[in-house]
Amino acid sequence: MIRLENVTKKFPGMKAPAVKGLNMEVKEGDVCVLVGPSGCGKTTTMKMINRIHEPTSGAIYINGEDALKMNPIKLRLDIGYVIQEIGLFPHMTIEENVATVPNEKKWPKDKISKKVDEMMTLVGLDPKVYRKRYPSALSGGQRQRVGVARAMVSDPPIMLMDEPFGAVDPITRARLQNEFLRIQERMGKTIVFVTHDIDEAIKMGDTIAVMRDGCLVQHATPSDLLSAPADEFVASLVGRNRSIKRLHLVRIREILQEVDRAKPATVDMPLDELKKRLEDSDIRSVMVVDRDNKLKGIIGVDDLKKKTGEVAADYIQDITESVTSDATLNDALSVMLECGEGYVAIVNEDDQYEGTITLGDLLNVVKEDG
Ligand SMILES: Nc1ncnc2c1ncn2[C@@H]1O[C@H](COP(=O)(O)OP(=O)(O)OP(=O)(O)O)[C@@H](O)[C@H]1O
Ligand SMILES: [Mg+2]
Repeated sequence: MIRLENVTKKFPGMKAPAVKGLNMEVKEGDVCVLVGPSGCGKTTTMKMINRIHEPTSGAIYINGEDALKMNPIKLRLDIGYVIQEIGLFPHMTIEENVATVPNEKKWPKDKISKKVDEMMTLVGLDPKVYRKRYPSALSGGQRQRVGVARAMVSDPPIMLMDEPFGAVDPITRARLQNEFLRIQERMGKTIVFVTHDIDEAIKMGDTIAVMRDGCLVQHATPSDLLSAPADEFVASLVGRNRSIKRLHLVRIREILQEVDRAKPATVDMPLDELKKRLEDSDIRSVMVVDRDNKLKGIIGVDDLKKKTGEVAADYIQDITESVTSDATLNDALSVMLECGEGYVAIVNEDDQYEGTITLGDLLNVVKEDG
């Protein structure tokens, strides 16, 4: 889909080339993550793919076609690009910013408006609140999310994303990553993704390309990179605790079937039955759901002593954070640490209860791999 052959870029006046003899292929529908130290040539590589920079030598093929012979303007309209500096147009509202490419492509007005709403909602910015604002009235992380919405709005088959989630907090970042992976599973776009965060690379990448001083050091699947780093440099980049890093590779749904937990209690469950249910539970607490299986809270053995009541609803404690089953085991771990609990509840998009993962489950996964 995207093929770089012996691509070199030397900027005028610079001694060393920014990118040196790069050979790399990104298969259709794959996410290829570029990682490496600041200044190693990641952004330059991306900007050659959409021809913001022209290679000094070498060839780039997109779908087998010579990219250097294509019309650069048309090429850029078909490649979604999230730039590292976000690069929103300051004099345009958020809505106008997101609609840039659809406007260039002369889509009908109502189609643009609908799609803008959809994309803003997707990145977690309520269109009613943010549509008419200017970029200066947004936080850095919010601007970054507008950048992602803008790149995705016209549904381009290829996306170049330069540190798209760099400026958002860890929880929002995990949510955006998961949302992004969910869309990607459906859309199968071909994506080149830059990050400084090796954990993000392991989570997002079908392949990871490690660069250093303008050269490609290793291009492999996350799993191969963890188990067989090509040299000391890659090993140090991947870091220690490689078995713990595997938590980024496993999705909750992959282990949820195997863990055997007590069934949840319902809000109207009588005290006797509730006690029985708690006895069956191995985490000394039980999740509580309503008639529609929506998660309502948790009851621990101690709650029964502290409070009085007749049915489960009288004893419920709130649960502040839960995760969906397409999140990774590492996301689950983050929530546990954040909340100071040894478990996390798993729900679907409608907040319906799907199961519980405990710290012990995570340790089992790490142990098996180690
Ligand atoms: N327009 C330019 N003119 C001259 N040199 C440039 C230009 N753009 C980048 N460079 C140089 O090329 C090298 C690679 O830069 P590049 O932006 O690709 O790095 P990067 O890997 O994206 O780094 P970072 O992680 O900091 O974003 C750097 O040494 C940089 O100074
Ligand atoms: Mg860069």
